[in-house]
Amino acid sequence: MSFNKHAVILVTGASQGIGFAVAEGFAKAGYRVVGVARNLPKTKPSFDAQVMDVTQPQSIENLFTYIQKTYQQLDVLINNAGFGIAGAIEETPVEEVKRLFAVNVMGLHHVTQVMLPLLKNTKGLIINIGSVAGDFTIPFQTFYSMTKSSVATYTEGLRQELKPFGVRVVNVKPGDTKSNFSHQRLRLVKPNSLYQARLERSLAVMEKDEKNGLPAVSVYQVCRRLVRQKNPPIHVTVGLQYKFLQLLKWLLPRKFVQWLLYQIYGK
Ligand SMILES: NC(=O)c1ccc[n+]([C@@H]2O[C@H](COP(=O)([O-])OP(=O)(O)OC[C@H]3O[C@@H](n4cnc5c(N)ncnc54)[C@H](OP(=O)(O)O)[C@@H]3O)[C@@H](O)[C@H]2O)c1
Repeated sequence: MSFNKHAVILVTGASQGIGFAVAEGFAKAGYRVVGVARNLPKTKPSFDAQVMDVTQPQSIENLFTYIQKTYQQLDVLINNAGFGIAGAIEETPVEEVKRLFAVNVMGLHHVTQVMLPLLKNTKGLIINIGSVAGDFTIPFQTFYSMTKSSVATYTEGLRQELKPFGVRVVNVKPGDTKSNFSHQRLRLVKPNSLYQARLERSLAVMEKDEKNGLPAVSVYQVCRRLVRQKNPPIHVTVGLQYKFLQLLKWLLPRKFVQWLLYQIYGK
């Protein structure tokens, strides 16, 4: 089923970056959009902006009640809230790894779980924002890559479990995209560490690529297409150059791909 303009769309992580672009795009196209984050957007949004932290169970429950009372329905959930960590595996404190998974994986799961009764009523659509980094394990971003490969796995399992209810689930994988992601990234660079020089070089490459990445609206355009599709694909990569990279990954030997990633991000 594709959705009409009365459809209600919930976007997490909508205070800035990709989530803001996605929420704005749908709102300007006439959909009813609730966009949530821990902070309200800095510029006046066209959507219904609400405060919600994906790591706080009560906050998610409150939003469920709000949507039920205000809109009486939910058609599309876009799980977008997330952030990154850069650091050597050896030097990354377990607490920071937990914090990352709490947002990118557990937060996504919890929001999905709470919203599912509404999505089942409407035979809705769930779009999880994963990443190309979930397919390519990037050195010094391994934990981030792990969260995004988890999102891909979660999408596949959930999609099968929800099939009889008519709820579709898609993993959308952006590559480098212009947003506040670089600024929000937790940088675990230890002075005098044996990893320091490599890590700083790696971060400089990542940040340059993100600065020159695709506009955030490119993710909205993909989501917009998905909302109109009766039978959406399981995984969708954003941007031609990243689709091409993924094709190469399947064609080239794994060791060669590792060597290439090492040359770019690991040396
Ligand atoms: N930019 C890229 O190159 C890129 C590439 C691939 C995938 N992605 C993915 O795209 C998604 C959006 O990232 P972005 O690039 O737009 O980064 P961003 O500009 O830093 O935006 C991240 C959003 O997530 C929200 N957020 C963070 N922690 C949250 C929490 N605990 N509860 C609720 N909201 C929270 C932030 O709002 P508050 O701080 O106000 O809570 C913000 O609105 C992420 O999942 C990211 O992994 C980004």
